[in-house]
Amino acid sequence: MTLHLTPADIETGANLLRAGSLVAFGTETVYGLGADAENPLAVAAIFEAKGRPHFNPLICHYATADAAFDHVEAPKAAEILSSTFWPGPLTLVLPRRATCPVALLAGAGLETLAVRVPAHPVAQRLITALGRPIAAPSANRSGRISPTPAAHVMAQLSGRIAAVIDSGGCRVGVESTILDLSGATPVLLRPGGVSLESLEAAIGPVARLTDASTLRAPGMLASHYAPTLPLRLNATSAAPDEALLAFGPALPAPLTFQLSEKQDLFEAASRLFEGLHWLDANAANLRQIAAMPIPTHSLGLAINDRLTRAAAPRQ
Ligand code: TXA
Ligand code: MG
Repeated sequence: MTLHLTPADIETGANLLRAGSLVAFGTETVYGLGADAENPLAVAAIFEAKGRPHFNPLICHYATADAAFDHVEAPKAAEILSSTFWPGPLTLVLPRRATCPVALLAGAGLETLAVRVPAHPVAQRLITALGRPIAAPSANRSGRISPTPAAHVMAQLSGRIAAVIDSGGCRVGVESTILDLSGATPVLLRPGGVSLESLEAAIGPVARLTDASTLRAPGMLASHYAPTLPLRLNATSAAPDEALLAFGPALPAPLTFQLSEKQDLFEAASRLFEGLHWLDANAANLRQIAAMPIPTHSLGLAINDRLTRAAAPRQ
C-alpha cells in the first residue's frame, strides 16, 4: 500500500506500526524501513524483510533530542551536536540507559544505541503519531542501494512490508553521518550528510575508524557481541554443568533460556540477545552454554550467524 502525506495517511501508517507491521517512510537522507522500536517481533521482521543474513544494529529515530536522551546517556559533546545538527542527517552512538525500552534486537544486543532525530516532515509526523521511536535501516534489500524515491522502495520490498509513505525525494540523498560518542574519544563510524569538518568545528578532533590509534579491539565492534561463557552449537543434550539455550521442547539442563517453545524463528530472533545477556548474568557458576539446533532458513540464518560468532574461539 502507498500512503501519502495527509493526516489520515500518517495515522494509518502509525497504526500499522503500532500493530507490529513494517512501514517505509522518507527521511532527508534515504527512505527508512520502519518498525516500532519497542516491539521485538516487529524489529525481527525488519531483518526478515531486508533478507539480511546477520543482525546489524539499527538506528532509532526520535522526534526530539529530549526523547532520544531519555533512552541514552548524553555527554556534553552529544548536547552540543544535537543542538547544532538535529533535526538532521547525524546519528550518535551512545550508551543505553538501564531503563531504555528499545528492543535489544534493535541494537543487536549492544550496550550502545544509535539515535537520530530526522528533519523530514514525514518522519517527524510518523514518529510523533506513534509516540515511540522508530527503528529503521535504509529501506533496501540487503546489499542493494539505499532508495531515495518511494518507487525504489516498492521495487525492492513490495509484498514484504505493509506500506510505504510516499514522501517525495530525499534532500540529502546519502545516509546520515554516524559518530560514536560512547568511548573516550569521538569516532566517525560512517561519513554522511554532516561533514567531518563541521563536526570538528563544533566539538574538536574526531578520530576516524581507520586511524590505527583508534582501532578498537574486535570484541568491541558491533558485530562481535558474545557472552563471556563459551558456547556449544547444535547441542542434542546438555551436561550437568551446561546452561541451555533452548529452541523448541527443552532438553534437561540445570538452567534454561527458551528462545521459542513453538519453534517460531521470529520469536527466537526477538529473544536472542535477551537470552545471551540473561545466560551470561545467571549462569556464572556453569561451564558453558549449550545451544539447541536452529534451522537455517528465514531468520534462522541470522540467528545461526550470531551464535556461530559467539561460539568462535576467542582472541
Ligand atoms: O540516513 C540514515 O542513517 C538512514 C535513515 C533511514 O535514517 N539509515 C541507515 O541505516 O542508513 P542502516 O541500517 O542502513 O545503517 C546503519 C548503520 C549500520 O552500518 C550499523 O552498523 C550502524 O549504523 N550502527 C547502528 N547502531 C550502532 C551501534 N550501536 N554501534 C555502532 N554502529 C551502529
Ligand atoms: Mg543501509
